[in-house]
Amino acid sequence: MALYTLPELPYDYAALAPVISPEIIELHHDKHHAAYVKGANDTLEQLAEARDKESWGSINGLEKNLAFHLSGHILHSIYWHNMTGDGGGEPHEKDGVGELADAIAESFGSYAGFKAQLTKAAATTQGSGWGVLAYEPLSGRLIVEQVYDHQGNAGQGSTPILVFDAWEHAFYLQYKNQKVDFIEAMWQVVNWQDVAKRYAAAKEHGDSLLLAP
Ligand SMILES: [Fe+2]
Repeated sequence: MALYTLPELPYDYAALAPVISPEIIELHHDKHHAAYVKGANDTLEQLAEARDKESWGSINGLEKNLAFHLSGHILHSIYWHNMTGDGGGEPHEKDGVGELADAIAESFGSYAGFKAQLTKAAATTQGSGWGVLAYEPLSGRLIVEQVYDHQGNAGQGSTPILVFDAWEHAFYLQYKNQKVDFIEAMWQVVNWQDVAKRYAAAKEHGDSLLLAP
């Protein structure tokens, strides 16, 4: 039985237009995200088969595939909820987002500094990757990560709370080669309430990890 399933979008395909076209959302969710879900399930089956047969010749490739597809599934699952047609603005202007706004200011010096860092990290990914705002439980602070593919260059233990997909499939049909324009437009659809909810959950979970007893 498949362990992972494709989550439904929390809105219709046109909900994020004009920042992201309905065509991109449909392909991105129904084809690309679906492929990562299938990839994660297929890899788990192949690993079970390897254990049954005690056949470990493909272990390196299988472990890499597991990290790739599972991380792709997780990041896209966060991505859809990080966005709303009613989003944008700055977190301190929003109801119920005060703790997140304070954490951003404390961790990055200012909202403007944070925004510039995440924009730059996402827009300058080499090849395929993501710009990620993550909660880092050892310091209890927020950090920006520039993730390669879906799984590389990320610190262990950190929890993504706001993710910008910088793969070409996320923007090319609409923005062509102008990745920086796409990332800058993304700020208009950020769902700060969702990010704040993820921050609170990551902090609560992170505090129980006993990384710094
Ligand atoms: Fe994607």
